[in-house]
Amino acid sequence: MPLQEETIRLGVCYYPEQWEESLWEDDYRRMRELGFTVIRVAEFAWAYMEPEEGVFRFDLFDRALDAAHRHGLQVILGTPTATPPAWLTHRYPEVLNVNMEGIPYRHGMRRHYNYNSQVYRRLCARITRNMAERFKDHPAVVGWQIDNELNCEINVFYSDADHVAFREWLENKYGSLDTLNQVWGTVFWSQTYTAWEQVHLSRPTPTNSPNPHQTLDEKRFISDSVIGFARVQADILREVVGQQHWITTNGLFGHIDNHRLTEELLDFFSYDSYPQFSSINPDEGPDPLLDRMWSWHLSGVRSISPNYAIMEQQSGPGGWVNKFAMPAPKPGQMRLWTYQSIAHGADMLLYFRWRTATFGTEIYWHGINDYHNQPNRRVHEAGRIGQELLRVGERLAQSRYEADIAIVSDYDNSWDGEFDAWHGPLSAQSTRAWFKTLQREHIAVDSFTLTNRTTLAKLQGYRVLVYPHPTILTEAVALLLRSYVEAGGIVLFGARTGYKNEHGHTRMMPLPGFAASLCGITVEDFTIITGNASAPALRWVEDNDEDQPFAATADEFNDILRVESNSVKVIAKYASDYYAGKPALTVNEQGKGRAYYYGAAYNEAVVRKLLPELGLRKTAEDIVRVPVEVELAVRRHPETGESFVFALNYSGQAVNVQLQRGSVDVLTGNALEGEIELEPYGVLVLV
Ligand code: GAL
Repeated sequence: MPLQEETIRLGVCYYPEQWEESLWEDDYRRMRELGFTVIRVAEFAWAYMEPEEGVFRFDLFDRALDAAHRHGLQVILGTPTATPPAWLTHRYPEVLNVNMEGIPYRHGMRRHYNYNSQVYRRLCARITRNMAERFKDHPAVVGWQIDNELNCEINVFYSDADHVAFREWLENKYGSLDTLNQVWGTVFWSQTYTAWEQVHLSRPTPTNSPNPHQTLDEKRFISDSVIGFARVQADILREVVGQQHWITTNGLFGHIDNHRLTEELLDFFSYDSYPQFSSINPDEGPDPLLDRMWSWHLSGVRSISPNYAIMEQQSGPGGWVNKFAMPAPKPGQMRLWTYQSIAHGADMLLYFRWRTATFGTEIYWHGINDYHNQPNRRVHEAGRIGQELLRVGERLAQSRYEADIAIVSDYDNSWDGEFDAWHGPLSAQSTRAWFKTLQREHIAVDSFTLTNRTTLAKLQGYRVLVYPHPTILTEAVALLLRSYVEAGGIVLFGARTGYKNEHGHTRMMPLPGFAASLCGITVEDFTIITGNASAPALRWVEDNDEDQPFAATADEFNDILRVESNSVKVIAKYASDYYAGKPALTVNEQGKGRAYYYGAAYNEAVVRKLLPELGLRKTAEDIVRVPVEVELAVRRHPETGESFVFALNYSGQAVNVQLQRGSVDVLTGNALEGEIELEPYGVLVLV
């Protein structure tokens, strides 16, 4: 479900309640000068709007919205339910979230509530309805953001209301305790339940090792709780504002099926983009992509809504008073990150925030304007972007990112893998390896989330699917993938595919379970590579290049393969350890397509070696050739057919790019040809 804007809108998050009213007019005037046309307000202002229970006041927002409207700014209203007021949690402590040890989170931060308290749902419904009634006909309002970043900061819940709701959820799902006992395998270690009151969300256990089937159900339950909580607000907004405003929420946090949330409740999904988080992430492994790695998250957002809104785009150094310290974006980087978001599908983008707060937890989470409120380099940079988008916004809006390959994931495996150390880490490694390699090879890639609503036609939008470690693999999904392959698709799996059912029980059948016949192999033996063990070397079967032997290891986990079908070709073998000489990587022709099985977690060397087999074209190679530090992306307009080629230089050095034909950079209107220089952190959008 895409956002449908007629132009690419730029705007900013604004907190009128945090500033002297005398500043508003000047703020709005300067926003318009920068080319901004939309602001988001009110998402944390519950204590202002309902100072005591049942007493509502909106006059500050009436004036703030009227003034915004006078200046030609559109307004997005956030429901303030991420920040319950002190009177609320004081009077109704049962609305608080509680940690696993049973200690409640208290007033003083935000997101300290639980989703299942009926009192909290009622109070959230009331503030939402009051806001909606008050502003439904305000001419500035265009849309609503439900809550703020559902499941950010904390995504586990153990309040009494959650334990009760979990029991109801289980009863509803399984019908009887007998079935629950079976599904959770409670005969193991005498965990059998004999009355529903004995059932809880996980509580502290020795070595912190709760029942694994239960922990998987807990994540599904949390996701349903979030959706149920958001549904209350979505229903009220639909009822009161009808179709005249859109509804969204901003996020991409753990333990939420954001695809279902969006399909059931929203007009489109929104995201908050802070690429500097990737730059400071110590876990990215060797040769990190830094801020460019953030494109992977944007691909995930695009998998929910092909065109989406960025409700918060990083516009300054980040940091709370005690956490997340991040360097300032260098000159040009804020613009680069803006076009990174747009290249990946954003059609509306609001900077976080207009001016840095002078008090509170976020005094170091800088906005466009500094505390002193005088023009600075970030303000100038925003103005440049505003002018560019005024020029090209209409042409670009609603065009779609194009990719022939997708990296596939699904919620069950991600949630199971969070707890199960025998497969969880593999997905992170393989996804990173594929994404980084494809980025550097300039091959556009999508993120694809497989759900039980996924159709063959959807999969057939891609020539290649990398589904690295679907440990939980149902027969239905295996059949869907078989149909995809038989019709000409290419699927690549990795270690640990297919050995669990949907409850997380291991299957009593040869691995990789329902993927075995598609891949034409079984797993005859396996080992995790951990502790002091080192990953074995790999040998490519057809590699005769003595001078430059292929050097790579089979990382993290090794499935030792046995060929079961004549149609299988062994591509690589293990070259050390007790299984030296056994197949490590195979391909099986099936119908018009083929299925690969790799017995380990992918690394960049293996992906690079495999890539030429897959027949993928480099992005826009007939238009432009760029060095490795530049990201390329194409957005094509479904109606006009016009293609826009984004070239994003993530490096602090100028680089040379080679135009393959005369092109125009639509951001400047300049006609370009031959070899040209792209400035440090520079951006081109070529037609
Ligand atoms: C986001 C959040 C904003 C602000 C920002 C910077 O996660 O939605 O309200 O807190 O981060 O910390």
